[in-house]
Amino acid sequence: MPFRKITQEDITFFKSVTTYVFTDSEQLNRCASDETEDLHYTPEVVIQPSTVEEVSKIMKYCNEQTIPVTPRGAGTGLSGGALAIFGGLVLDMKRFNKILQLDKRNFQVTTEPGVITQELQEYVKAEGLFYPPDPASKGSCFIGGNVSENSGGPKAVKYGVVKDYVLNIEMVLSNGEVIWTGANVLKNATGYNLTQLVVGSEGTLGIITKIVLRLIPAVKHDILMLVPFRSAEEACATVNAIFLAGYTPSALEFMERDALVWSMQYVQTTSIQLPGDIEAHLLIEVDGNDMDVLYKEAEAITEIVQGFDIGEVLFADSHEQKQMLWNLRRKVGEAVKSNSVYKEEDTVVPRAELPELLSTVKRISKKYGFQSICYGHAGDGNLHVNIVKAGMSDEEWNTGLTEGIKELFKEVVRMGGTISGEHGIGLVQKPYMDIAFSPLQIQLMRQIKNVFDPVGILNPGKIF
Ligand code: LAC
Ligand code: ZN
Repeated sequence: MPFRKITQEDITFFKSVTTYVFTDSEQLNRCASDETEDLHYTPEVVIQPSTVEEVSKIMKYCNEQTIPVTPRGAGTGLSGGALAIFGGLVLDMKRFNKILQLDKRNFQVTTEPGVITQELQEYVKAEGLFYPPDPASKGSCFIGGNVSENSGGPKAVKYGVVKDYVLNIEMVLSNGEVIWTGANVLKNATGYNLTQLVVGSEGTLGIITKIVLRLIPAVKHDILMLVPFRSAEEACATVNAIFLAGYTPSALEFMERDALVWSMQYVQTTSIQLPGDIEAHLLIEVDGNDMDVLYKEAEAITEIVQGFDIGEVLFADSHEQKQMLWNLRRKVGEAVKSNSVYKEEDTVVPRAELPELLSTVKRISKKYGFQSICYGHAGDGNLHVNIVKAGMSDEEWNTGLTEGIKELFKEVVRMGGTISGEHGIGLVQKPYMDIAFSPLQIQLMRQIKNVFDPVGILNPGKIF
C-alpha cells in the first residue's frame, strides 16, 4: 500500500477540525515509541481529538487521501501496536479521558478510551463495584489500549480478561462512519458478535471512542502468599495441582529467580529473603467475602505446596506488604528492560503443559545461546519469556535469535498453545503468525480487515 506524505494542506485541514495538531519534534518523538523493545518510528503528525465528530472527520479525510492512521493509547504496549511504521498520522486518544456514566443499577460503566485503567478501577470501587482486568501497567495504561489488545493481568485466572467485560463499543470506521458494535446487555445472540471482533483487533478495524463495561460486586478480602521453590519446573507443576484439588486462586503468578532478583534491584528493596537454592516463586492470592472460607482455602493451598520441595512460605501480613509483593511482581518487565536490550515473548499453553513449556524455553535458550527470564500468569498457562541480549553479538541477536523464537513458538503450538496470550501481535510478532495459523485462517482474517478498512489506512502493517 503506497501512502503519500502529509502535506501542509493536510495539516491545514486537520487544524480546521481540532486545535490539537502537532508537528513539533517533542510530540512526534513522544509518539515514536511504546514499551516494545527499543523501536522508534516517527509519525509525520500527532493529532489529539476529543470528540467522536473530530475523529469521524479525520478518518473520512485520511481514507479519501490514503493517509495511514495509527491509533495510540498510553503507549504502554509490548508488541509495537501503536507504532506508525509507515509514518502518517498518530491518533493520540489521550483527550478521550472521561468516565461518562456509571449505571449502578445494571453494574455497567461507560467510559472513553483514554481513561487510565487504575483510575477506572478506583472510580467503580468507590461505588462498591469491581472491574478486575489489571495489566501490570494499570497505573499508566489506557482502557482503550486494554480493549484493543484484549489485555489480561494477574486477576484473569479467576475473573477473565478484558473481553469478558466488554459489552458494547462505539467506534469510528475507516470511512468516518460511527457505529455501536452491540448492546448493553449481558447476553446477546443477535447476529455476529462485532463487539468481540473489535476487542483485541489492535486498532486495525476502527477507532474506539466509547466502551461499555460489565462490572461485578467488589470483593472484600484477600490473602496473599509467596512460595519459594527449589525447582522452577516443580513450581510450574504445583500450579495445576492447586486447580486439580478444586481451588481457583484470584492470582497465581510465577517468577523465576532472576525475575525477582532484578525486580528487587529495580525497586531497590531487599525485603525478600532469597536463599541461594531457590529457583522460582509462586505468588498466590485467594479472595472472597468470607474470611473463614479464605483461611481454609489458604490452608489447603499451603498443604498442596508443602507436597513439593519449597522454602519458607511468606504470608503478607499487612496491606503494605501485599502492595510491596505486587509491586515486585508488576515491575519485572520494567526491571528487565532497564537492565538490557530484550525481546519479550508472551507464550501461552494449556495450563497443565506449563512445566513442559518452561523446560522447552530453557532447552531452546541453551541451544541458541540466549539468556531467558521467565515470569507471568502461571494460572493461565501464560508465560512471559524475556530474552536478554546480554553478551550476544548483534549478528546472533538479529538472526540466530529469530530461529530460536520460531522453534519455541512451534513447540508452543505443538503443546496446544499459541504465540500471544495478552500482549497482541502488533509489529513484533507478525513474522510468526504463520506458526499459529494456516494460510487459510490468515486469509479469513485479512478479508475481515478488508471489509472494515478497504483502503487499508488503519494501523497498517500490524498483525499480518
Ligand atoms: C506483566 C506484563 C508484562 O505481566 O504483561 O508483567
Ligand atoms: Zn502479563
